[in-house]
Amino acid sequence: MPVTRAPGRVNLIGDHTDYQEGWCLPLAIDREVRITWSPRGDDRLAVASVDVPDGDPQLARLVAATREVLRERGRADVGVDARIRSTILIGAGLSSSAAVEVALALTVATAAQLDLPPRDLALAAQEIERRATGVPCGVMDQMASVFGVAEHALLLDCRSLAVTPVPLPDSIEILVVHSGQVRTLQASAYAERRAACDAAAARLGLVSLRDAKLADVLHDPFARHVVSENARVLGFVDALGAGDVRRAGALMNESHASLRDDFRVSTRALDTLVARLLHEGAYGARLTGAGFGGCAVALMPAGRAVPVADVLAGRYRAFRVRATDGARVE
Ligand code: GLA
Repeated sequence: MPVTRAPGRVNLIGDHTDYQEGWCLPLAIDREVRITWSPRGDDRLAVASVDVPDGDPQLARLVAATREVLRERGRADVGVDARIRSTILIGAGLSSSAAVEVALALTVATAAQLDLPPRDLALAAQEIERRATGVPCGVMDQMASVFGVAEHALLLDCRSLAVTPVPLPDSIEILVVHSGQVRTLQASAYAERRAACDAAAARLGLVSLRDAKLADVLHDPFARHVVSENARVLGFVDALGAGDVRRAGALMNESHASLRDDFRVSTRALDTLVARLLHEGAYGARLTGAGFGGCAVALMPAGRAVPVADVLAGRYRAFRVRATDGARVE
């Protein structure tokens, strides 16, 4: 039976920028969704997951949205029997839902012999998320799951959707640690923050905050976060290219401070965790993804990610991640 796999992601830097046509730097990680499937004689999408009970309403909505979105893109009515299995922590900011969306969309498109180029696959998966959850998410998570490259982070230009793989130097390792606070985007202030950014852009007469200058937004903390975060992403890529991992780490710390103080999406648990990671020798650490709970990501010196994960194990779920290739059917 064919297997479709789609990885989760962790974002190194550049949060709450994607829906303002900005920059971000995620990597696809070695935690993934796998769908084992076979085509059916009828057009039913019979999808079960080993991780959620039969009849789970969220999964049912994802399946219905997948059918709808792919139909609109010209899918012939082909059904599949599919079983989902995931090794991505749920509600942790590691894009467990984006990975399901990408894997489902790729499975159904493949079964129906619908040729969906990678960028269209990512956009279809984003549309599935929006319809199934009502959250006006950006495209970072689905792009990362589709375009992942082993041993590379991905510089995403969320305006042009250009993807530039950025090599991760041997001198660093990436550690992900769950704060212990589970959250869903539906229940968070995600949509509210997005609306505040849209309003700030409109006040400046812009389509998005991508072209705003820092001087234009100095008195608006939400917009100031987005504009300064875009600059930090590009600075981080330059620092990595120059082998200056300390500078890269400092930019992650600045990113966390901006998400905490200006964008106000951190929590006490995340702040405590980030401080602990720095205490354990991280070059830099920050909340990753939308915030409101979930995970922190740390840039560790080579050889330190696993020992530090072991030290934190009594209190946190902590694990080293490696950059992997994006979604595919095997
Ligand atoms: C969630 C969304 C993404 C992005 C991040 C914040 O993961 O799905 O589109 O906006 O939050 O950077």
